[in-house]
Formats: sequence, structure tokens, C-alpha cells
Amino acid sequence: MPRVEGLGARRAALQLLDAVLRRGTTIDGAAASLKGLSPADHGLAIAIAGETLRRLPGIDALIDGATRQKLPDDSKARMVIRLALAQKIGLETPDHALVSTALPLVDGGPRRLVHGVLGTLLRRGLPVTDEAQLPRAVEERWRNAWGDEVVQAARRQIVRRPSLDLSFADDREAQAYATDHNGISLAPRHVRIASTSVSDLPGFGEGRWWVQDLAASLPARLIPADATDVLDLCAAPGGKTMQLAAAGHRVTALDSSKSRLARLRENLGRTHMTVDLVHADALDWEPSREYDAILLDAPCSATGTFRRHPEVLYRARPRVIAENADLQAQFVERATKWLKRGGVLVYSVCSLEREEGEAVADSSGLHSDPPKTGELPDFVEPAPGGQVRILPGLLEDKGGLDGFFMARLVRGD
Ligand SMILES: C[S@@+](CC[C@H](N)C(=O)[O-])C[C@H]1O[C@@H](n2cnc3c(N)ncnc32)[C@H](O)[C@@H]1O
Repeated sequence: MPRVEGLGARRAALQLLDAVLRRGTTIDGAAASLKGLSPADHGLAIAIAGETLRRLPGIDALIDGATRQKLPDDSKARMVIRLALAQKIGLETPDHALVSTALPLVDGGPRRLVHGVLGTLLRRGLPVTDEAQLPRAVEERWRNAWGDEVVQAARRQIVRRPSLDLSFADDREAQAYATDHNGISLAPRHVRIASTSVSDLPGFGEGRWWVQDLAASLPARLIPADATDVLDLCAAPGGKTMQLAAAGHRVTALDSSKSRLARLRENLGRTHMTVDLVHADALDWEPSREYDAILLDAPCSATGTFRRHPEVLYRARPRVIAENADLQAQFVERATKWLKRGGVLVYSVCSLEREEGEAVADSSGLHSDPPKTGELPDFVEPAPGGQVRILPGLLEDKGGLDGFFMARLVRGD
């Protein structure tokens, strides 16, 4: 059989899609075990799988409208057609390349069916849209929690490329960088830039900045400036640790993942910062002293990062969210005991689920300490009790933000 150009990347994309939808892994996690691909094909496989997951419900509706046969959700035929349509809609791949790389993937399966459905849809012409439905269960959950406008905003955001946010230790540096590199600064020490290639941007090697979504930079801004001894409890890969170190706190950064801690160490080396690193499980570690402040950026469903990691929408099932909430409550309970009297716990999650955000903060037994004027950028409007919820739709005209929750809580007794 003649060699089909680009087939390796499509075969790998099929593996990634299968890993996410059937085994519940992340795209990056599954991509780490892809073998024998050139860097370009590796990147293409991730891009195809990502585009497919961004647009899956709409693509499935197109497939169902083009055949009377009910293709099972996890059938190879459906998977292969999904990948082909995502390339057409999201990556503008030419039709001949779609078809020639789709058919060999069916390997002894229903090639005629795949050819037929794909041919029908390509002849009809695919709708051009600048939004995509999310999985129905997610839309229902978010509509109930946040209202329809938020769901509509999320539908628009999921198909846009998020911009690149850089954090700086020093605000003058950030402002100068924004001017020199055509960026905009939406908060102190922040620059948003159009480029997506991190290592090509000036200043990366010298550690002038680190990549951090603007929403993810907000929780550390709530650590009081006069807190001397600060514990960063779930710290790796360290975006918030670097903010805390840059602000002059004495930082202890703890994480249970060795590989993520290694990335944190690398980040600290690149940005020339020093903190105390602890490799431990926060559920059995015991500190030797109490802290003025603790930042608890807890592990969560990460549904707020759906723009960069669309697979989170398929991984975050209600049971997973409930298990996370349980774990988060345990982290909060332990962290509370490690605070000095009057000490502050900043609790945050990059989740759009109330159970992991508001509900955990509400049941902490701690008082809420609302953000003071100037601590957070003006576009952030805390809820009446002082909690901060960042939803899809905020700053949409400037490129949007990840979804986030944060609350500053005080140990009173
Ligand atoms: C949301 S991420 C933290 C992101 C980090 N704060 C930042 O800004 O770069 C959550 C972290 O919690 C860590 N983690 C999960 N379970 C843990 C545990 N039991 N003890 C300590 N760390 C844990 C994970 O390894 C992960 O690095």
C-alpha cells in the first residue's frame, strides 16, 4: 500500500481521543506515551484531538444527521469521522487529506460507511460557526449554577485560542515589556501577548517572566503583604509560589508530586528565586511551626481550564466532583490548624463547580475576609460575602480568563 502522508499524526490523534473518552486520561498525559512521532506530528496529533474535544457534541449531531445507522459512541467508525470533521472545521484541512488519512484508520472496519458519511457531510458543506456546544450534562450543570449567559460565553470561548498571559516579579518590568512587545497589561505585574510560542518570546531563558493565566494569578494577590511566613500547600508547578517569593514572603512550597516539584524547581531556577521545597502528602505531613498565611490552591476538576484543556469537560463527572470536594474539605481542615491565630487561608480552585469552590469555603468554619480595594484588578467584582468567582464571559473582548474560585478566610480563635 502506498504511504499516506500525515497518517501517523492521525493514528496518534485517534489514540489520544480514545484515551480521553474511554480511559478518562488527559490529552497531555496520553501524549507523553506516544512513540516515534516527529515533533510536528506530535503537535498535530494533540491539535486534532483537542479540536475534536472542543466540538464533540456538534460533530456527533452532524454524524447522526448523515446516517440512519446508529454508530455506537465508542465505535472506531465514529471516532475516525469525528477526527476528520474536527480537522475540517477547526484546522481547515483540505478534503482530500481528510479522506485519505481517515480511511486507513478504520483498518478492516466499515470503510464504506465512513467514506459514505464523510462524503455526504463534505458535499453538504459543514456549518461555519464561532461557537460550539459543550457536553449536555456540563451545559445543564453550569446553566443551573451560573445561568444561560455563562453557558453561551463558554460556547464561544471553547473554540477560541486563549491568549498567553505572562506574570512578572516587578510591575515596571511588566509595563515596559507590554510596550516593547505589543502586549496589554490588565493587572499589575501582568502582560497579555498575542504569541503562543512561549520559548521564542524574549526574556524566557533569562527568567524575566513565567506563564500564568491572569485568573490563576489572582489568589496569591490575596495573601496579605505583611504575612512573613507563608505556606504554599499545593504548589507545583509553581506559578503562585513565584508570585509569593517575588512579593518578598518567606515561602515554604509543598507538593506530593515528585515530577511536578521538579518543574517547580526548574521554574525557580530560571526565575532566580529561592523557597523551601517540601515533597510530602498534605494529608499526612505535619509542619514544625505555624504560618501567618497559607495558600491552598487545591487539586480539583479543573473545569475552569476548558479553553486550554477541553477534555476536563469529559472527565469531571458528578462523582469525581463530589470526591474532589471531600478531599478539598480535608485539606482546608488540616491547613486551618497550621495557621497562627488571626492567620489567613486563601483557598482557590480552577473549577467552575460550586461544590469545589463556594461550598468548601462556606463549610470551612472560618470568617471570610473580603478583598480590599486595590488588591485585585478592578474588573473583578467579589460576591457580597467577599468570595471571588471568575466565570466565562468576563473580559471576553480582551480574550477572557480561565474559570476560578477564591476566598480569603481568617482563623479567628
Ligand atoms: C491546582 S494544582 C497547583 C497549581 C499551583 N498552585 C500553581 O499555581 O502552579 C494542585 C497541586 O496539588 C498537588 N497535590 C495533589 N494532591 C496532593 C496532596 N495530597 N498533597 C500535596 N499536594 C497534592 C498536585 O500535585 C498539584 O501539583
